[in-house]
Amino acid sequence: MNVQARLVFCWLYLQVSFVSVLSDTWNAKVVPNIDALVKSCVVVPCTYNYPGTSLPSSRKRAIWHKKGNREEYIYHEDSISVADNFKGRTKLLGNLGQKNCTLEIDEVRDHDNGPFCFRIEIPDLDKFSFVEQCVTISMISSPKEPVLEHKNYFKEGSHAVFKCYVKHTCPSHPPSLTWSRSDGEVLPSIKLLYEGTWQVESVLSFIAKEQDHNTEVTCKAVFHGNMETEAKFVMFVKGKQNIYHIIIPVATVLGIIILLGVVGFFVIKKYKRQIQELQSRNENGLWSRISRVSRRFRSVDYTFPGGDYKH
Ligand SMILES: *[C@@H]1O[C@H](CO)[C@@H](O)[C@H](O)[C@H]1NC(C)=O
Repeated sequence: MNVQARLVFCWLYLQVSFVSVLSDTWNAKVVPNIDALVKSCVVVPCTYNYPGTSLPSSRKRAIWHKKGNREEYIYHEDSISVADNFKGRTKLLGNLGQKNCTLEIDEVRDHDNGPFCFRIEIPDLDKFSFVEQCVTISMISSPKEPVLEHKNYFKEGSHAVFKCYVKHTCPSHPPSLTWSRSDGEVLPSIKLLYEGTWQVESVLSFIAKEQDHNTEVTCKAVFHGNMETEAKFVMFVKGKQNIYHIIIPVATVLGIIILLGVVGFFVIKKYKRQIQELQSRNENGLWSRISRVSRRFRSVDYTFPGGDYKH
């Protein structure tokens, strides 16, 4: 074995012994704060460790109790020992053999705040309450409405895509998201936002049609325990029809203006000639009258009644 290999081996050995030293202590990882929707469920993520060898679930007893009172069980495998107000509502989802102590509280009530702590009893070894890692639950009395993401308007014939999502803390019975439209493609998904808090998502896509204009798209979230909320959007479809709505009146007005212009042009042209004719006729007429009158004046004999003045 060369020096390098020996060093690597040494380093690995140290790592392994470190990990086993670390895992050789009583510790638990519990989410410290979590929201819970009243009437729904809440799942509290929890893992734990203890010194010594791995043991199957059957050799361990898991308990969840109120902080400050080790006797007030909110979960116990013997349901008779569970406090009355938690009877039948708590379940250990985690696999104890895999050091998972995840707890589910169902039909959440207003006063389920806690804090609650995990306790493990291993008859062959010891008992331990992880009172430094307890969970406090914040109650939410009514669910928030889902978030609906979309474009402000859609072009007729284009893909209309809507994304709807909502947070929850009940992964054992996640909320369902449903759309008001039965046509189109729906893509559901679930993702973990942060420890204990999940998000269900649904993406709806369809081809925007002319008749979708002014119609409502609704995303409804139904939570475990049957509480529901919804988000809506009234679609604006910029269709060819909408363009015609603008083009037709504009074209009509323009047409009328052009028509009036043309008609006016001919009318003016026609009347101009007539006016000119009239004017020239008038001028002729006037002159002829004037000349006629002057001629008549010139031809008058200025004889006065009463005879001759020449005396
Ligand atoms: C613990 O158990 C829960 C419930 O089965 C599971 O969702 C979670 O992923 C487990 N955690 C770990 C760290 O394995």
